[in-house]
Amino acid sequence: MKIKNICCIGAGYVGGPTMAVIAHKCPDIKVTIVDLNAERIAAWNDEDINNIPIYEPGLAEIVAISRGKNLFFSTNVEKAIDEAEMIFISVNTPTKTYGLGKGMAADLKYIELCARQIAAVAKNDKIVVEKSTLPVRTAEAIKSILDNTGNGAGAKFQILSNPEFLAEGTAIEDLLRPDRVLIGGDGDAEGQAAINALVDIYANWIPKEKILTTNVWSSELSKLTANAFLAQRVSSINAMSELCEKTGADVNEVARAIGMDSRIGSKFLKASVGFGGSCFQKDILNLVYIAKSYGLNEVADYWEQVIIMNDHQKKRFASNIVKTLYNTVSGKKITFLGWAFKKDTNDTRESAAIYVADDLLQEQACIAVYDPKVEKEIIYKDLDYLETREPSDNKKGVVVFEDAYEACKDAHAIAVLTEWDEFKTYDWQKIYDNMKKPAFVFDGRNILDGVKLRTIGFVFQEIGK
Ligand code: UDX
Ligand code: UDX
Repeated sequence: MKIKNICCIGAGYVGGPTMAVIAHKCPDIKVTIVDLNAERIAAWNDEDINNIPIYEPGLAEIVAISRGKNLFFSTNVEKAIDEAEMIFISVNTPTKTYGLGKGMAADLKYIELCARQIAAVAKNDKIVVEKSTLPVRTAEAIKSILDNTGNGAGAKFQILSNPEFLAEGTAIEDLLRPDRVLIGGDGDAEGQAAINALVDIYANWIPKEKILTTNVWSSELSKLTANAFLAQRVSSINAMSELCEKTGADVNEVARAIGMDSRIGSKFLKASVGFGGSCFQKDILNLVYIAKSYGLNEVADYWEQVIIMNDHQKKRFASNIVKTLYNTVSGKKITFLGWAFKKDTNDTRESAAIYVADDLLQEQACIAVYDPKVEKEIIYKDLDYLETREPSDNKKGVVVFEDAYEACKDAHAIAVLTEWDEFKTYDWQKIYDNMKKPAFVFDGRNILDGVKLRTIGFVFQEIGK
């Protein structure tokens, strides 16, 4: 089957960049991205390409090439579903905040809504592709809804799992040159035909040997497993960072030494204030929940420890600041350089900065924030979402700056929470001169090696000595 029309439900960090690249690489396919959020769609359609809602290096350029030609952004979900032979579901699947599995299981209400909408609209056969990360066996649920709630038009559905492995900040590069593309589908003839239709799309720019096909469950579980393994590496090196600080070893040196073992490899060994992002925590919690639901308590505990270590690292960072500043930060200005969960993105979901700020606000610190890409309103929204204190108190406790030097002026301490490259290029002598003395830098991203600071442990640098 040759696909001519694609619809993607969800114009977020995954749907937006993925569809932009498909449209760019497949000029013969019309790609329509729909979203319930009219404001977000309007931003994607903004005449000024710099106003698209997601910041990713290279994304604006690629959208500019295809937008209005074969790439469209719309709120008309039904029309896009009706026209498409292939529908990607790329809506968010947050951790449940209520009921059974609260705080662990994925909330699938948006996925179910999408399935019901597709069933209601479809007049002809459709291939439905799961892009969102989902618990194993979600495809089964989607299929059941599609097959049993149809509009009587007799449409048949094939469900594919095609998990996204792109990392934010490098999304376009990851999409253009992925390590692999994974497609899970049914083993019968119809399933294989659906798989082939999707393989043909990716084969427009990705070598065939990098396109893996599996059964649906393997594909779904591989996504959770990949994220769990990556996050586990970060928690493992972070666990060693605490030991290094106590013993006088340098975690950077340890990481380098073990990373050169080709069996271990050098990536994802950067000690940090903790991992963030929309996927790691959610996917591991999901894995833990699935394991528990099968009664596999040891498996669940094993993976949960990755999250426990990550929470500990964030708490430890905040308490290290308090301890170093003579056990009180009340009324002291502490400047956060960076708020995003990693560099080169304006995404702040689960960013360590949020939790560190929350802890320091509890200690009555005055927090100044500078981030090159994150908007002020988002920073307050992130803190309000925790519901630790009244929004008005978050406004009082946190001041957002547009200039890093201004943000650092008169600060007792600076905490680096995101590894933005520009931080390395700052005139640190000038920053130091304008700080309250003694001045401290807590390098939560371990990036200031090149700066002339006296290093004491990975999270803590006392400057000016
Ligand atoms: C999402 C999931 O969070 C992640 O698990 C998955 O791997 C990929 O998709 P992301 O694209 O980063 O990640 O989410 P987000 O930026 O929140 O985008 C989702 C979009 O779907 C939002 O714009 C939202 O408005 C839209 N949406 C949600 C719908 O259009 N319809 C719905 O019913 C629900
Ligand atoms: C991740 C996966 O990498 C991607 O394949 C999946 O599709 C979605 O989840 P993402 O969350 O965008 O991508 O970013 P990633 O680069 O994995 O970083 C996650 C977090 O770990 C960030 O907060 C990052 O700063 C942190 N991290 C990463 C470290 O602290 N140390 C490291 O060595 C690597």
